[in-house]
Amino acid sequence: MILQKLSIIIITTFSFIATAQTSKKEMSKLIHDEFQFADKQYKYLMKAIPQDKMPQSYKASEGKVVTKDISWWCSGFYPGSLWMIYEQTKDLEIKKEAERTLSLIESNKTFTRDHDLGFMMFCSFGNAYRITKDPKYKEIILASAESLSTRFRPGMQAILSWDKMADFKGPVIIDNMMNLEMLVWASQNGGNKKTAEIAIAHANTTMKNHFRPDYSSYHVIDYDKNSGKVLSKKTFQGYSDSSAWARGQGWALYGYTMMYRLTKDEKYLSQARNIAKFILNNPTLPEDKIPYWDFNDPKIPNVPRDASAAAIISSALLELGQFTKGEEKKNYIGVAKKMLINLSSEKYHAKLGENGGFLLMHSTGGLPLNSEIDVPLIYADYYFLEALKRYKDWYL
Ligand code: GLY
Repeated sequence: MILQKLSIIIITTFSFIATAQTSKKEMSKLIHDEFQFADKQYKYLMKAIPQDKMPQSYKASEGKVVTKDISWWCSGFYPGSLWMIYEQTKDLEIKKEAERTLSLIESNKTFTRDHDLGFMMFCSFGNAYRITKDPKYKEIILASAESLSTRFRPGMQAILSWDKMADFKGPVIIDNMMNLEMLVWASQNGGNKKTAEIAIAHANTTMKNHFRPDYSSYHVIDYDKNSGKVLSKKTFQGYSDSSAWARGQGWALYGYTMMYRLTKDEKYLSQARNIAKFILNNPTLPEDKIPYWDFNDPKIPNVPRDASAAAIISSALLELGQFTKGEEKKNYIGVAKKMLINLSSEKYHAKLGENGGFLLMHSTGGLPLNSEIDVPLIYADYYFLEALKRYKDWYL
């Protein structure tokens, strides 16, 4: 027992030193090599999907890439990942696939059936516009922001996440924070001022109702659509109504950090710092910083991890590092760096030609729904690539 404890201390200390000592040169190589790898790996993925569908995951038992229709909330992540790979490698085959898949999802710009249009259209067309400055992409983003804004319910002062789901009346999920970036961006880039007002109202309502005193987030708040009264505080994808579903904490951290970037409203920064505190000080956050799927699953450590939560949190922490100073900033960047190094290790990272062509393994989509447990997920790859790019742009 004593020996076991001692070896844990030695391994822990060693891995801390190893991460802290990874030099700028080594990080630069890690990031460069990852994009070169992704360029090759996504050519396997590219060949594994039918022309009218988007890659979502991989069923190892059947050796099959799982694909989804373009109206699925994840349809923007594959094109967005391709754009980020192209940006680093300048590979025209990757660019061609990025353009092909953008055309495929363009019709989503009038989609209003749920709240996910920001994920679908900003992760895709947002990156395409950022990289190419092609005005046609901007038009599509502005149209998409208009479509998403139709889901704002003045009585709730929030965007309705789902129309019909379980017994919910007016559900708003924490994930919805991520869709606000497109609304504010559109407004600041020639679009309607109203879309930013909607985003700000939504962020304020969410701040009021979605958080517990320790700054962990509920997954679903169910509202009365007319009065805005909170009917219940629930979960859909987490362990329990009172638990902290890992990806949800990631969406919250990313969402408020991004809202601070776009509005410079100090209360969003303060919210993001408090959420970061909850995540980083959580006793169940493992030594390698890749969260278990839910921070409160009582079966921890014998439960799946969620690499997608790590990728989202690392990308968000890198941005939070841009708005903070001293030891606090150093801690955010240090943890994000550790997450990226570990996600790049063989424990979480696929080998060339394996894992269906996805980069990362070990993400969890919806454990209580018995869906996508311990598998690759396209959005884990997307936020991993985004975090690597952020690290390169801001900290090398
Ligand atoms: N937005 C859905 C999820 O995070 O699974």
